[in-house]
Amino acid sequence: MKKERFRTLHEIVKAARLNLNQTHWDYLVGGTETETTLRRNRHAIDTKALRPHVLNDVSAIDCQTSFFGHTLAMPLLLAPIGSLQVFDPGGGASAAQGAEAAGILAMASSVCTPSIEEIAASAQGPKIYQLYVRGDDAWVDEILERVTASGYVGLCLTVDTAVVSRRERDIAKRVIPTSQAAGNGDFTYQAKLSWREVERLKSISNIPILLKGLSRVDDVKRALDLGVDAIYLSNHGGRQLDQGPGALDILENVVSQMEVPVPLIIDGGFYRGSDVVKAIAMGADLVGLGRLEGWALAAGGVEALVQCLAILRAEIIETMALCGTPTLADLNPSLVEPAPLVSTPDVLSAFPLLQLDEGY
Ligand code: LAC
Repeated sequence: MKKERFRTLHEIVKAARLNLNQTHWDYLVGGTETETTLRRNRHAIDTKALRPHVLNDVSAIDCQTSFFGHTLAMPLLLAPIGSLQVFDPGGGASAAQGAEAAGILAMASSVCTPSIEEIAASAQGPKIYQLYVRGDDAWVDEILERVTASGYVGLCLTVDTAVVSRRERDIAKRVIPTSQAAGNGDFTYQAKLSWREVERLKSISNIPILLKGLSRVDDVKRALDLGVDAIYLSNHGGRQLDQGPGALDILENVVSQMEVPVPLIIDGGFYRGSDVVKAIAMGADLVGLGRLEGWALAAGGVEALVQCLAILRAEIIETMALCGTPTLADLNPSLVEPAPLVSTPDVLSAFPLLQLDEGY
């Protein structure tokens, strides 16, 4: 049997740091301006404790779920990452292959390579195509046609990127990430994007439409009124609006005020199995992995990504067993309670054993 190179998640992060130059590392770990939203993502997770049940039979843990009729081995998706190809030359295709091997959902970014069709053909598992609207209606329609013809199970509009944010790690180095470079579509359409476009897309699409980047109850309600098929709560990993709330706090705010009758997805700082269990217990259906996906691909391509997802699965199963919750349906808000912080939250604080010689 082949020996596994990685046994813990922090080994993967360390390998990624060693493989990436400062520019690509900063693109992956960085946020906007003060990076407060980025830190709040971890703060929101780290200020919740799990209060476990005991004496339930947890000899068989089932963390399977389903999404749009597709069975997933665990409640995870690989979030869309622009410029993914700088972490692994296969880009979105490598991510799709890793997702398929782990039995989870893949979401391909419209600002990574290869093409819509090549990513679709690279793996059989369920995939969603994420789109930045950078063209007129005809431009969008052509993409929707290609996405539909290629067999994606949904089209996801990212709606928290009206403008390119000021990511000072990049700006200070005079670096423009390829995902934001000129020639990558007309950014003025991103700023003009409105609910009208969502309504129009819903009226013409034969596949489900998702919105990624929602964080307010009134916006979620508006999306549901237009028939949006899944809600993706996200602050873009702290890479867009600075000074926003942590993602898990966004989830808590939304589910405390309304029932969401469609799949509810969240991302933002979720790196450990216990993080995922908290999100599901608090009402999410799927948790998106962004930076963890990037670290794993940078650490060792598809193989490292598959190992990363296997470690995460082991953590999820361990956490569910120790919470006395054999299935995802057993997870509920009573398992989660407020708790004091034990360390300063930052992008790497989920990995206390990580030692980076050169810092980050
Ligand atoms: C980013 C964009 C490309 O966060 O989604 O870098």
